Amino acid sequence: MDTTSILSERINNLSESATLKMTKLGRELAAQGANIISLSVGEPDFNTPDHIKDAAKKALDENYTRYSPVPGYPELRKAIVKKLKEENGLDYDISQIVVSTGAKQSLSNAILCVINPGDEVIIPTPYWVSYSEMVNLAEGKSVFINTSIASDFKITPQELENAITEKTKLFMFSSPCNPTGSVYSKEELAALVDVFEKHPQIYIISDEIYEHINFKSKHESIAQFESIKDRVILINGFSKSYAMTGWRLGYLAASKEIAAANDKLQGQTTSGTCSIAQRAGIAAYEGGLESVHKMKEAFERRRSLVYDALRDIPDVKVNLPEGAFYFFPDVSAFFGRKDEDGNIIENSSDLALYLLNKAHVATVGGDSFGNNDCIRLSYAASDQQLIEALRRIKTALGKLK
Ligand SMILES: Cc1ncc(COP(=O)(O)O)c(C=O)c1O
Repeated sequence: MDTTSILSERINNLSESATLKMTKLGRELAAQGANIISLSVGEPDFNTPDHIKDAAKKALDENYTRYSPVPGYPELRKAIVKKLKEENGLDYDISQIVVSTGAKQSLSNAILCVINPGDEVIIPTPYWVSYSEMVNLAEGKSVFINTSIASDFKITPQELENAITEKTKLFMFSSPCNPTGSVYSKEELAALVDVFEKHPQIYIISDEIYEHINFKSKHESIAQFESIKDRVILINGFSKSYAMTGWRLGYLAASKEIAAANDKLQGQTTSGTCSIAQRAGIAAYEGGLESVHKMKEAFERRRSLVYDALRDIPDVKVNLPEGAFYFFPDVSAFFGRKDEDGNIIENSSDLALYLLNKAHVATVGGDSFGNNDCIRLSYAASDQQLIEALRRIKTALGKLK
């Protein structure tokens, strides 16, 4: 241990977010004049719909500028309850909803509320970069279930059963998934629920932030299964569906006990989230799904475009993701090859850096998502940018010998 450092072990042990790091590196190269195409960030390239922006402007004029209740304005929580009922068929009371400064905060709060030091948290890999770091912050222990492209990056009930020990407290996953775009069907979720029914001490964090970007069918939430619903901590937000990443607005829906714990934690840390963002959130949920569907259509078109381009690159293995806006191709065939300067590509981060420096395309190495065979490409970019980025990637990969 470095006894001269002012920094806590907690923060020293925390990794920097790989997605944010690649985005930063890309911005630095762009500032030096390079024409960088960024496929590293997880945000829609659309602007927030006008009716939502108008509600924020109105909120300012109406002086929604003071502290809001810690779990959010009652009108917003009511709109969330209505949305969960109408879109997802889920019954919640307003007291079970806690609005936060982004789904990221809800995830972190939820973990802090249920995890004691040494508790085990089962996380299927690949997972969203922050999951395991949030578990570390809470002094829990991540237990990974590895998946691969061969199973569309989904786990089986048997694999779940095998990962459970007497210390397991939590299971956390996203469907549609970041980084793979995989979507669990109702039948697949039901099979996992059969396992959870046998282990009543396990809580489930269900991250449903990509629910509207689902090309397979209607969204299925694991909270629909009454036998375990009280143990599900449902996480959602406005960032991805409504192109509102900068507004920082998310929420969780959970049992009254867990919601009250989150309220208490938030009350001692950040308090209620931005008042203007909350008023905008009400307009988002009351304004219908037209803009959401338009964005989804654009993502679906781009998905086909990128899928065809990736399949055209020799030695890249790719599956067709059913949701979100990411591809997670297996690029392990390139490991061990050399670039033109004689540097060996050892792993997925090396490959992502190579693509950034030589092809000027920012991606993210899969190792930071817990899978070193793959890289993540976000297709939240224009069609022209995607075509050009994939052309550059193909050329650059072709140069590795
Ligand atoms: C799976 C997943 N969960 C949560 C979040 C965080 O969303 P928010 O912007 O609401 O904090 C992201 C953002 O990238 C994500 O990909």
